Parts: sequence; structure tokens; C-alpha cells
Amino acid sequence: AGPFDFVVVANRLPVDQVESSDGGTEWRASPGGLVSALAPIMRQSDGVWIGWSGSPGPAPEPFDSEGMHLIGVELAPEEVRDYYEGFSNATLWPLYHDVIAAPEFHRSWWEAYVAVNRRFADTAAANAAKNATVWVHDYQLQLVPGMLRQTRADLRIGFFNHIPFPGYEIFAQLPWRRQVVEGLLGADLIGFQRRADATNFLRASRRAAGLSTRGSEVNAADGRRVRAAAFPISIDSAGFAEVAAQPHVQARSKEIREALGNPKQVLLGVDRLDYTKGILHRLKAYGEILDDGELAPPDTVLVLVASPSRERVEQYRMLRDEVEVTVGRINGDHGSVGQPPIHYLHQSYPKEEMAALYLAADVMLVTSLRDGMNLVAKEYVASRQDETGALVLSEFTGAADELTSAFQINPHDIEGLKQTILRASTANQAELRRRMRAMRRRVFEHDVAHWARTFLRTLEDSADHRHRRR
Ligand code: G6P
Repeated sequence: AGPFDFVVVANRLPVDQVESSDGGTEWRASPGGLVSALAPIMRQSDGVWIGWSGSPGPAPEPFDSEGMHLIGVELAPEEVRDYYEGFSNATLWPLYHDVIAAPEFHRSWWEAYVAVNRRFADTAAANAAKNATVWVHDYQLQLVPGMLRQTRADLRIGFFNHIPFPGYEIFAQLPWRRQVVEGLLGADLIGFQRRADATNFLRASRRAAGLSTRGSEVNAADGRRVRAAAFPISIDSAGFAEVAAQPHVQARSKEIREALGNPKQVLLGVDRLDYTKGILHRLKAYGEILDDGELAPPDTVLVLVASPSRERVEQYRMLRDEVEVTVGRINGDHGSVGQPPIHYLHQSYPKEEMAALYLAADVMLVTSLRDGMNLVAKEYVASRQDETGALVLSEFTGAADELTSAFQINPHDIEGLKQTILRASTANQAELRRRMRAMRRRVFEHDVAHWARTFLRTLEDSADHRHRRR
């Protein structure tokens, strides 16, 4: 098949290799909103998705799965180390998340980043039809738009950054800041989660690349005008609500509460085990609430789902140790036989189980120190069809811009966090309903299909504008 009129380029393919019932392996759609948002567009436009399978070594042959054409990009073991674990997840990830962990700068990692970005760009160029639309995703691939533009000026190129874009004082630390800005500027449209991210990028274009900006546009070196704007991502809200409404999911949520000992109050945290999520801040606040005797098991329990992530990166291993020591200490201090105050799960679960957990939770705790969007907050809201439940939400998430009716917190302010958790867990039903209703309106009106549509339409306008100017 191919060449294709619509090309998605992302670090990961939208499918994971899982064990099949016959003992072999098969591909299954990855959980997550991006895949469900783009799959219908891919099917409609007969598009292709280019990405890495998640394992080192030779890429699978191009194949079709879930109604999409998929093309794998190979990463050698050293490239997984230097491009993925290194530059993407130990340089850019902490740098773009307010240096919560110290970013490491290694020239060999940068070289691998350039080489792998080149491979993604070449693969896209080889498979894109004339005048095709190419949509590049996230921090792992910031050089791809520029590389594509050099060989394929006919393409309409969009880029979306799923994580924050930092303020210039922080971004300026990056030894390759100019190359990154110029790489991104190969696109016709650069999308960010929040307005603040777009503003940060516009400033970086002026300071790191010496370009002028006008409103939301950068005057690129080759005379093109590149637009930078916010397109807050979302979830498949109706689809998620439907999962949560299924009788077996509802039954499972009751079962979960029973297994927890039918507490009056279930608090819940759900994250990838990542230092950006403020898991230790959450534990500190909860531990102190128990110390103060304001909440206690068996009336109150905390379920902490921390799904395994990037386990070969040092900072992630250190965090796991620290979380597990802290959970152990709190359970040791405040638990009794059969009644631990924290139920800790270092696992990931299918959508149904997640929905059941959300339904079982009276208070959802999202305490990120910095987070591009945070879709967990939106999933919780989408699952609460009866308009009950409280969302405690860090103001340092993209979601905080939209979910203004959440109980918003500054996770660094432990005293404020404690008080807000207590307030959320004692608020009356009328207040909770008013807040939840407002949040549900937002999440259902602005779902992931709306996000994709808005981005692609704006890309079309921006690129047409460029063609007209020629
Ligand atoms: C964040 C990033 C994604 C990334 C995901 C999981 O949401 O924005 O680009 O795919 O985390 O991380 P991983 O390193 O496992 O792909």
C-alpha cells in the first residue's frame, strides 16, 4: 500500500505486542486517547502510522492492525539507550517538566537523537504522497518537521507537543536549543496543550533562533510563517463513559469497595510511576492527615495505582524505591491486620478495570508537579455519570486550565493540599454535583475527536495560507 495522503509519525506505534491465547504474540491497540482519536481519521483517509514497536532490534514488516496501516521504525539497542532512555527521557523529559529532576546533557545522546529523528523523517518522506498531510507527535521527534521540510516542501506538516514547553530560562540550558526550535519550525502549525506553552515557544523562537514573531506566528528563516497555538488534548469521553456504564464494570466497582472493606471513603491516585506526578507529595499529605487523626482506616483508604514506566532510567528506579519505602512506612505506622491505609499497585490495567476503580473512588487525587494535560483527571470526570465524586487537581496540569470547577491545589503546599483533601472528602452532595456537572460539560464538549478536528483544520488553513503566498 501507499504512498499515503495522511501520515502520523510518533515515537510509538499505536499497537502493543501482547501474548495471544495460543501462546504466540499478537498486536493489540494501545490503550489511550491518541489512538482512539486518530484511528477513525486513519481509516477514513487510508492513512499510515509510523512509529517504533517498543522493542530494540529489527522493525516488524509493514502490517495492518485495527484498520490502520502501520510502518515500524527500527531502533538498535544503543539507540534505545541514547535516543529513547537518554535524550528523550533523561534530557528532554525533565527539562520540559520544570527540571523536577536534573536533566543530563550528553553529546552522544544528542547525536543518537539526530540520527533517529532522521530515520523517522526519511520513513515519512518515503511513504507520503504528493501534498500529503504529515502529523508529527511529541518531544521525541522535534527535529522531524525540519528534516521533512528540507526534502519534501510539498507536504503539509503539523507538530503536536504532548508535554509542556518550558519557560526560556529553563529551555536555554539545552545546548542544542537553536536546533530544536529550528526543527519544530519546519512545521506549518505547532500545537501545544496550554496557551502558556505556545507563548514559551514563541519566546524561544525569538531568543534561541533570533526570529521575529507577530501574534501567534513566527517568521521563519525561509520566509514561511509558522503558527504556534494551544489545542488541549482530551479523551474519547463518550466511549469512556460507555465503558463505565457497563453492568459488569459497575459490579466490579462494588466488588473493589468490598475488597477494600467497604470504607466510607475511598481516595484514589492513578499515574505512570513518574517524578512529575507528585506521588511523594500526595503521600506526605495523606500520611500527615493520618498522623493528625483526621482520617483513618478502616473508614478511609487510599488506593495508589502507579503503573510501571521507563524502568531502565535511573531517576525512575530511584523514585520507585522512594515511593515503596514511603508506602511501607505509612502502612507500618497506621495499618492493622487486614486494614492497611494504602493499597499500592505497581501494575497497569485495562480500561474496564480503570473505569471500575474510578467508580469506586470518592476522591480522585491528581497532584502533578508539572503535567502537559493529565488525562486521568478527564477519565475520572467522564466515568462519574451520577455526578458524584470529587476531583482534587494540581494547578500545574494542562487540565487545570479547563477543569476550573475541580478542587485545585498547589502540590508543594502540603498544608493546603491536606486541607483541600479534607474539604473534598467532606463536601456536601450539592456542591460536589455542581462542580462535577460543570467539569462533565467541558469534558464531553471538548473530546479527543474535537481536538484532532480542530488541529487538522487549523493546519489546513495555515498550510493553504503558505501556498497562497508563494
Ligand atoms: C507521555 C508522553 C508520550 C509517551 C507516554 C508514555 O504521555 O507524552 O509521548 O508515549 O508518556 O511513555 P513511554 O516512554 O512509555 O512511551
